[in-house]
Amino acid sequence: MTDVLEGAHIAGCRIESVAGRGGMGIVYRATQLSLARPVALKLIAPEHAADAGFRERFERESRMAAAIDHPNVIPVYGAGEEDGRLYLVMRWVAGTDLHRLLRDEVRLEPVRAARIVDQVAGALDAAHAAGLVHRDVKPANVLLSGEHAYLADFGLTRLAGAEDTMTTDGHFFGTVDYMAPEQFRSEPLDARTDVYALGCVLYAALTGAPPFPRETVPQTMLAHLHDEPPRATTLSTDLQRVLYRALAKSPDDRYPSAGDLGRAVLAAAEGRSVTEAERSVARGAAAPRTRRRPAPPGPPDAPPVKRYRARGRRSAAWIAALVAAGAAAIAFVALSPRDSPPLPGEPVSSADVKRLANAFAASYADEDQSRLSRLLTSDAQRVTPQDRQRGRTKVVAEYKRQFDGNRTTDFKLDGLEAHGGRTGRATAHYTATYAGASPSTGTMTWIVVSDRGRPRIALIKTQPS
Ligand SMILES: Nc1ncnc2c1ncn2[C@@H]1O[C@H](COP(=O)(O)OP(=O)(O)OP(=O)(O)O)[C@@H](O)[C@H]1O
Ligand SMILES: [Mg+2]
Repeated sequence: MTDVLEGAHIAGCRIESVAGRGGMGIVYRATQLSLARPVALKLIAPEHAADAGFRERFERESRMAAAIDHPNVIPVYGAGEEDGRLYLVMRWVAGTDLHRLLRDEVRLEPVRAARIVDQVAGALDAAHAAGLVHRDVKPANVLLSGEHAYLADFGLTRLAGAEDTMTTDGHFFGTVDYMAPEQFRSEPLDARTDVYALGCVLYAALTGAPPFPRETVPQTMLAHLHDEPPRATTLSTDLQRVLYRALAKSPDDRYPSAGDLGRAVLAAAEGRSVTEAERSVARGAAAPRTRRRPAPPGPPDAPPVKRYRARGRRSAAWIAALVAAGAAAIAFVALSPRDSPPLPGEPVSSADVKRLANAFAASYADEDQSRLSRLLTSDAQRVTPQDRQRGRTKVVAEYKRQFDGNRTTDFKLDGLEAHGGRTGRATAHYTATYAGASPSTGTMTWIVVSDRGRPRIALIKTQPS
């Protein structure tokens, strides 16, 4: 996006200087002329303004964000469109943001980190009570004026949907370092999605790095989906426990509200336990609608938290296909539009997914590496808790190593379940029997995608039991 010249007037504001750039556009320091006050003016990149659906969502979400009146929510003064540009005018925060602070200081002392996270948690509770899920809680969206934290960018970044995460100049929008597992699946999002992201922010603030620093976006997504966060052993066990719960893969296992997380981390950092009174306050407005355990009574008039579905299956499938295919590093590096990863092909049927899982089992049982090779995409991956191979050649070489080392007498699948889609998925329990050795068992997952018009396996995950 081209920079607007200093001194230009837009939305009743005079632009002074560029404050920062993000995935959606540029933030300027500006002066609102009617009140002669400093403001932050966010100009959305023009390609988004051209999309009527995007404009409508932008206006709706800006209105909802502006309606939240909370000391830790960035006040929005105005939003709209002028000369074909979408803009957002908000309070100017003279200070820094948590991303920059962590870049300078690497990590924060626990009480300081906990106070920031607790303030952001308060902002999130207010947003959730108003029916808004943020979806992009990350250090760059936590603005800091001294020790006062403001949460910015409600729903804004993810408005574009995941399929638009490449900008026209080929940059990847933002980061997936703070995104919850359910954001990579086409699952409903709720308050607990933001709890996970806030847990990642807390992890980064306490340790100096997000929980899953990986080289590529697909690797990071896979880690959010399947890996345990590394134990932050330098922290007290109470803080580790808070992180563990905030970062649970299943929303049901997380804190039910951001406020619960905020209070828990504050108590842990201060070396005390959360009082029962604090706990019951937490269960009010921001609690998700479904939970495993019955909720203690909350205010009868608390509005339900709006559950978002990722916009269309396509967006989540696009991400999932990237995950499955293990596409080369697209994170944070400039790619030319020509190099952007292609959208995956047609959906595969559940029958095809099942057929491929069975064909895999038969090829393995027969130790038929050339047949097995034909089942795989060229960039297929094999993942186990111990190791990982990337690319068909390496995956087949690993199976050859296994075939050379053991004589497989049988390979059976039980309880095979298959789902079709752009990223088909099958899971089954396996029993591998080798001559002269006891059988080994476990669970296998296959991700199947359409590869040049044919269903092929893009990922094989093995979890021995
Ligand atoms: N209200 C504000 N006051 C002062 N500075 C701001 C304000 N809003 C944003 N900024 C600055 O502008 C930078 C860019 O913000 P922007 O939201 O565009 O990018 P981002 O948060 O890094 O990415 P994303 O587009 O994913 O939100 C921020 O890092 C922040 O430093
Ligand atoms: Mg931002």
